[in-house]
Amino acid sequence: MRVLGIESSCDETAAAVVDETGVAERPWIQRSSVIASQVAIHREWGGVVPELASRQHLRDICGVLDKALRDADTTWAGLDAVAVTQGPGLVGSLLVGLAVAKGLAVARGLPLVGVHHLAGHIESLVLQNGEMPLPAVVLVVSGGHTSLFRLDEPGRYALLGRTRDDAAGEAYDKVAKLLGLGYPGGPVIDRLAKSGNDRAIDLPMTRLTHPDRNQGPALALPVGFERALAGRTEFSFSGLKTAVLRHVKQRREQRGLDPHDARHPFSDAEIADICASFQRVVVTTLLDRTFEAASFSNARSIGIAGGVSANSRLRSDAQRRAERVGLPLFLPSLHLSTDNAAMIAAAGLRRLRAGHVSTLDLNADASLPI
Ligand code: KG4
Ligand code: ZN
Repeated sequence: MRVLGIESSCDETAAAVVDETGVAERPWIQRSSVIASQVAIHREWGGVVPELASRQHLRDICGVLDKALRDADTTWAGLDAVAVTQGPGLVGSLLVGLAVAKGLAVARGLPLVGVHHLAGHIESLVLQNGEMPLPAVVLVVSGGHTSLFRLDEPGRYALLGRTRDDAAGEAYDKVAKLLGLGYPGGPVIDRLAKSGNDRAIDLPMTRLTHPDRNQGPALALPVGFERALAGRTEFSFSGLKTAVLRHVKQRREQRGLDPHDARHPFSDAEIADICASFQRVVVTTLLDRTFEAASFSNARSIGIAGGVSANSRLRSDAQRRAERVGLPLFLPSLHLSTDNAAMIAAAGLRRLRAGHVSTLDLNADASLPI
């Protein structure tokens, strides 16, 4: 089976062609993957502007689809199904991909399958590396999400915990903004942190020991797990961002600068120290919780997916920890870590093979549960 994937949930317009291989351990192979990034448009505003994003998806989608077919050396007649991101995401952006996918499904008489964006990120690991030994614990960490899942069987994703406020990538983006480093913040902080001292600044590592009003839906914690890991499968990054902001304000005051002056008072070396200290706290928090959940789950493998999984320290620290506990670590390639449509086609294939086909009233859902 050959599936066309379409992804437009945020600020990347993407299309890809993925084939089944017939090999159980490595079920899919990417034939093409095209991404039109809108970063240059949103950079000017310091973050994604939803209305601009939807309009740009409309401009880009046809060219992206054409190129995905050409790169895969296939035609419309060569496709067997269409998979599309249904949610979560920006509703105007999602609607562009959905409308195109439904139009294609009708015009070509193809089955249509709606895909959860985070299922796509999880299946990017399988597309890249083959099937994960189960049970697996997978962290999906991006600009919009920081969620921990347990997989007991293929295609079933049990949510163990997620962020109560900002996603980790969002914290990178906000800290970069307040240091004047531009958008998106992750890659630049990652680069600058390499020359900094990661203990230079004392930043807090948030512990969540009590329920609060951002608790979210009931979590699928296994028996015995809930009490042992209460709050330790969840994340919070807004306090860390505020701590960096407080540090900037204090330094400004200490140096007798106008507290309302938006410019920060730091040298390049001090910026590198802030980046390294911030990154140490984010990476340690993410990995402590992921590896703890894996240990309680008796996991046979660990995965990390999503835009932040491109982070060099997260990758190397995770690899070291995985070797220490003797578990295989699954990571996507850098191309598959940020939003793309190959992962949507792969997750679509998983759903199609499990017997799911969507009807033509499939609608965008900005906060679709998994
Ligand atoms: O998965 P993605 O493309 O979009 C969402 O679904 O959110 O992730 C984008 C996020 C941004 O917040 C960006 O700053 C972050 O991933 N990111 C990184 C790195 N590369 C991208 N964060 C940390 N280190 C990186 N190297
Ligand atoms: Zn994403």
